[in-house]
Amino acid sequence: MCGIVGYIGDKPAKDILLAGLKRLEYRGYDSSGMAVLSAKQTLNIKKAPGKISALEHIIKANPLSGCLGIAHTRWATHGAPTQNNAHPHADCKNNIVVVHNGIIENFESLRSRLIKEKHFFRSQTDTEVIVHLIEKFHKNFPLTEAVRKTLKLLKGSFAIGVIARDNPDMLIGARSGSPLIVGLGEGENFLASDAPAILEYTKEILFLEEKEIVILKKDSYQLQNLDGRPVKRRPVHIGWDIAQAQKQGYKHFMLKEINEQPAIIENLLNFRISKNKEIIFQEQKIPLRKLKEFRNIFIVACGTAYHAGLVGKYILESTCCLPTHIDVSSEFRYRDLLIDKHTLVLTISQSGETADTLAGLREAKARGASVLAICNVLGSTMTREADGVIYTHAGPEIGVASTKAYTAQLAALYLFAFYLAGVRKVMPPAQIRKFLGELKKIPAKQKEILKHQERIAKTARRHSHFGSFLYLGRNVNFPSALEGALKLKEISYIPAEGYAAGEMKHGPIALIDEYRGVVCISPRSKVYEKMISNIQEIHSRHGKIIAIATAGDVMIKELTREVIYLPVCSELLSPLLVVLPLQLLAYHIAVKRGCDVDQPRNLAKSVTVE
Ligand code: F6R
Repeated sequence: MCGIVGYIGDKPAKDILLAGLKRLEYRGYDSSGMAVLSAKQTLNIKKAPGKISALEHIIKANPLSGCLGIAHTRWATHGAPTQNNAHPHADCKNNIVVVHNGIIENFESLRSRLIKEKHFFRSQTDTEVIVHLIEKFHKNFPLTEAVRKTLKLLKGSFAIGVIARDNPDMLIGARSGSPLIVGLGEGENFLASDAPAILEYTKEILFLEEKEIVILKKDSYQLQNLDGRPVKRRPVHIGWDIAQAQKQGYKHFMLKEINEQPAIIENLLNFRISKNKEIIFQEQKIPLRKLKEFRNIFIVACGTAYHAGLVGKYILESTCCLPTHIDVSSEFRYRDLLIDKHTLVLTISQSGETADTLAGLREAKARGASVLAICNVLGSTMTREADGVIYTHAGPEIGVASTKAYTAQLAALYLFAFYLAGVRKVMPPAQIRKFLGELKKIPAKQKEILKHQERIAKTARRHSHFGSFLYLGRNVNFPSALEGALKLKEISYIPAEGYAAGEMKHGPIALIDEYRGVVCISPRSKVYEKMISNIQEIHSRHGKIIAIATAGDVMIKELTREVIYLPVCSELLSPLLVVLPLQLLAYHIAVKRGCDVDQPRNLAKSVTVE
């Protein structure tokens, strides 16, 4: 939610900032802006409402020269997405500029006080108080101290970037609650909300922790806490490749990321399963003794990650015989939780920065539970605060709708479940080996589905005019139905609901008529016959059925012409296959309707506010 980029070095800042912003556009795209300090020490600020292309036009017409600058892409919280409310925000005299990601909860009272002190506000944002406070303190203190004093007054969450006319060799960054990283280069340094923004220039990354401030010069950096005491931390080398953050010939990031899934799962399995079929989790630091003794599991996640967690509940209960509960993070964090040191809490998150999931993690730890994070982004807040981590190694996910992160989360959950079943000795080693063998065959089966994606695209296009959709599934594929519906509604804006098929007769069946698309997830399973009965009920009420079935299923053909076939697979592992056609259906329906699939309206990739 909101993306920040900062640059200090010898190169023209505007090009680096613009390229960085484009790579962060998935974090918000309501407005954008940039400030560059010129050689004559004037601060030039350009802003534009709407997508970054609007800012790019302005900058092309009025180039900003200088080698120090900050930039921002906004997901609006306080104040409409107008030019005035776009960041960077400047102080009264245009001497200092600030970009901010997060929410300043006490901004009203700070703003009233600053207005009484004759500060002049130009926007409705909460952010603007930050720059006026820095201005106020900077009258009597050096810039870094003025920033520190300001940050101590702020309540809420922030990641900020600051530059000032009278400190032309300094770029300041700070964080509390919102992510911020530093990229260390040769004679140049960078600030960013997320690694893809700066991967092109450096892979040496310093992750800022809570309440830390970094003072960047072009050849050095200093990390401090809010009291100005130095903090020592080594940079981390990240293995992500810039190509992973580019479209590589695909029309959209979403389509590229859907197609990456077999390779990601294959790499993950090769990395996690040793030659003698042992599961390896290097960053999983929760002791075996504890893993053997947990009495229950709680899963905490949001959105698509929550759907992965729902599949996880089915998997963990059936393989580990451990009662497993699941909550969306925003509910988990506020309810009276019955958890303690005997509980293992799994937090699942692509970004590792989702505000509600982080709050859930902290709540769980405060109650004595152990927390294991399943996460994609190296060094993210969640991975630093959890007791153990399982990285999903899906590479940067740029499409706002999560696809490859989901299947990587599922793969991590399967591996963890088999691992835990082995540790707790609730499944014979031979059976675990058999499951692992089957898991290893999944990437080839996913490739097989993707080979026929044009057929799925045609089915999607034939159904793109429908006004609403229902997704039905049972057992381990009930979460797949929820995920299919979420994918469709978030990128095509078509109302779509996911339901446990057994619930049909308790209400949703009233919706069925010839105008309703109904996606029936019905691969071979112990609930297959039940699904067929549901399909018959929908058929006789003229619903337009798209069935997802196992190769060779001829019976289903009698009920609908629209069947998408999957390779044969055990029921337990089938969610790893089922979701691919669901993602493709959503993608092609949205494209046919002319929607911006990579940047759907009102959404942002990383939800760092509550
Ligand atoms: C949907 C989607 C969101 C995220 C959710 C959690 O396609 O992307 O629902 O899954 O915002 O985000 P993370 O996984 O970063 O915690």
